[in-house]
Amino acid sequence: MDDTNQIHNVDGVLLRECWYYALPSHALKARATVHRTIVGEPVLLGRDADGKVFAFRDTCPHRGTLLSKGAFDGREVQCPYHGWRFRTDGQCTAIPSQLADQKPQAKDIRTPAFRVAERDGNIWIYIGTQKDNLPPVPAVPAVGAKFQLHESSIFACNIDVAVSGLMDPAHGPFVHRSAFWRGEHSIHEKQKAFSPLAEEDGLGWRMDRHTASRNSRAYRIFLGGTPETDISYRIPATRIEHAQTQKYNYCGLTACTPITADRTEVHHVMYWDVPGGFLLRPVVRALAKRFLEQDRRAVMAMQEGLAFNPSTMLIQDADTQTRWYLRLKREFLTAQAEGRAARNPLMPVMLRWRS
Ligand code: FES
Ligand SMILES: [Fe+2]
Repeated sequence: MDDTNQIHNVDGVLLRECWYYALPSHALKARATVHRTIVGEPVLLGRDADGKVFAFRDTCPHRGTLLSKGAFDGREVQCPYHGWRFRTDGQCTAIPSQLADQKPQAKDIRTPAFRVAERDGNIWIYIGTQKDNLPPVPAVPAVGAKFQLHESSIFACNIDVAVSGLMDPAHGPFVHRSAFWRGEHSIHEKQKAFSPLAEEDGLGWRMDRHTASRNSRAYRIFLGGTPETDISYRIPATRIEHAQTQKYNYCGLTACTPITADRTEVHHVMYWDVPGGFLLRPVVRALAKRFLEQDRRAVMAMQEGLAFNPSTMLIQDADTQTRWYLRLKREFLTAQAEGRAARNPLMPVMLRWRS
């Protein structure tokens, strides 16, 4: 029996030993560095002179200065305070104030590096200490849909609250209502088959391939027909949707990255292969922005209410996916504590709700 019926009574712990979405590839130019705080860690992300992405702990081992505020020549980062230099793997190469017989020497110093991966126009970072057998980097289906745009928004809440707001199938008609999209009048019964993800794809589930809802008018206009859709969700927080008509594909990737325990960045990336589809970008970007903002407001209103510690409930079946998220997260943590591989406890099931 699943005992999780409240969202905010889980401790909001941030998972480690996971890939997190860092930023879109285009936001990191060659010979540039940026700072990000991810799972509470200060991270310098950079792209070297050859175009290779790297990341290391952004606090200088000397006195803690943010290294990302220093200079980067495409090979080495120089701390802005006393000029210590660091290779892209985090190894210190120069301590200008040091005489040859003094300690420490540059070779004794390093700032810890993070694993990074660049794929599908996104940069992912691995937060954890595990060296081998890393989980797979999240990937969008290889159907030829091209990266089109990235939008992100910072939600001032824990990742659990953000995720529960995003994966909720029942809020659409109320939060995202618009003349173009859908509203209360279009609510109807839905029945969708779900199954656990294959183990090699990570811990999560899939909404099996189905014909897109008849109130997804945007899809029909955009892809020129009623598409088939499937959606997969993998913890900690990657949702990938693939919609396909006989001719065209759309893929959407949503990923939540905890900044700290009470701030979460929500990323949304879109791909499509509709010819001349780049012309759609400004309109779609405006819609994506608006959706994210609608979600952010809805989640903030929930967050404000939760501050009063009300008792809440997770109902059948609309809240089942939120329940699964919490359940898989708990299994992930238990497996980690017990030093074993996580097992997916989910079974194929049909869920029904109205939206
Ligand atoms: S604080 Fe970085 S070199 Fe001193
Ligand atoms: Fe939403």
